[in-house]
Amino acid sequence: MRLILLGAPGAGKGTQAQFICERFGIPQISTGDMLRAAVKEGSDLGLKVKEIMASGGLVSDDIIIALVKERISQPDCANGFLFDGFPRTIRQADAMKEANVKLDHVLEIAVDDEEIVKRLAGRRVHPGSGRVYHIEYNPPKEAGKDDVSGESLIQRDDDRESTVRNRLAVYHEQTAPLVDYYQRWAKEDPESAPAYHRVEGVGSVDEITRQVMQALEG
Ligand code: AP5
Ligand code: ZN
Repeated sequence: MRLILLGAPGAGKGTQAQFICERFGIPQISTGDMLRAAVKEGSDLGLKVKEIMASGGLVSDDIIIALVKERISQPDCANGFLFDGFPRTIRQADAMKEANVKLDHVLEIAVDDEEIVKRLAGRRVHPGSGRVYHIEYNPPKEAGKDDVSGESLIQRDDDRESTVRNRLAVYHEQTAPLVDYYQRWAKEDPESAPAYHRVEGVGSVDEITRQVMQALEG
């Protein structure tokens, strides 16, 4: 299974990706996690993208497309993969079309902006694995610690409210047009296009997971 999770920052892509990847036995390809790992390592890529990520802007299409093409050529992607946070621009989506990357599903998780601001203020992450928590809505078993490793959780640099507002503006301008892009493709050419599904992303994590699985398993 090859699928795209589409949705605003904080919509719950990373949260639902964990369940989907486990169920279908596929790797999660989160461009955000890959870039954060590069920043942490201090690699050339990390140095290049650090500031733009901290401001909530988008990293250049050329960098992202090269990163993703390299990643999906690895052996663990042979049976499929889940894209989380990619594609994020029409150019990134076109690049996959041009490379003949056949996709089965696009799943949109829809959440409105005010809910997102609340969610991101309370988000905590385990940087090693990318596991995501919320201090109120999805708390770890022990406060401040990852459930699996017991290591400390952190707050992401880009989760300050002013940065979140900027990320939302960037989403509406550059990424939201992909909703129309994939819906139109599914209508015009259902043979080659991925199936399009939309799930309302407000409700408990379990309830959203149930709807996501229903959409994907038909
Ligand atoms: P990225 O890491 O992709 O961030 P994002 O898209 O902004 O998405 P988030 O990770 O913030 O949210 P999410 O939807 O995964 O939500 P989550 O599950 O964590 O990108 C970061 C940056 O990298 C970008 O700004 C850009 O600079 C760069 N970048 C990355 N990809 C790029 C690309 N393709 N092109 C260019 N630049 C790129 O959930 C959020 C919170 O809500 C958590 O606390 C969670 O516990 C909680 N929550 C989840 N579900 C629920 C629920 N149902 N009810 C209540 N709370 C919930
Ligand atoms: Zn995420």
